[in-house]
Amino acid sequence: MSPLSPRKLDPYSHERLQSLFLLVFESVRQGQRAIASEAHGRFMVAFDSHMGQEEEVLFPVYVDAGATPGEVEARAREVEDLRRQHGQLRALAGEIAVRLREGQADIDLLTRFELDWARHDDAEASGFHAWCDASGR
Ligand SMILES: [Fe+2]
Ligand SMILES: [Fe+2]
Repeated sequence: MSPLSPRKLDPYSHERLQSLFLLVFESVRQGQRAIASEAHGRFMVAFDSHMGQEEEVLFPVYVDAGATPGEVEARAREVEDLRRQHGQLRALAGEIAVRLREGQADIDLLTRFELDWARHDDAEASGFHAWCDASGR
């Protein structure tokens, strides 16, 4: 990825989301509930913005930009899978928010989110995000 890639400069890039979530994780680990809730609130703003931008703008353009009908179809299936992952990640992030409010956030739940997030990052890296970088999006 070029250092000037627009996605790299995106304040809500995967790297940025990862670092915001790390702050939630570390605060929970250290029992700093107020800091964890505040950090998760900031994470959720960035997370919702990133997911919404992909779902509403970038995924449809990515599918339509397939070079052949076969590629369009393959990308449509890929995006369907990515949208399903988004749904699972949103559900988990929402559950974390509820648990944080109740003072019940636990490391297992946060670890599950981290693993699912890493899997989603991998799933987007080679196809969708590579296309975003190559097409300047
Ligand atoms: Fe993404
Ligand atoms: Fe995504």
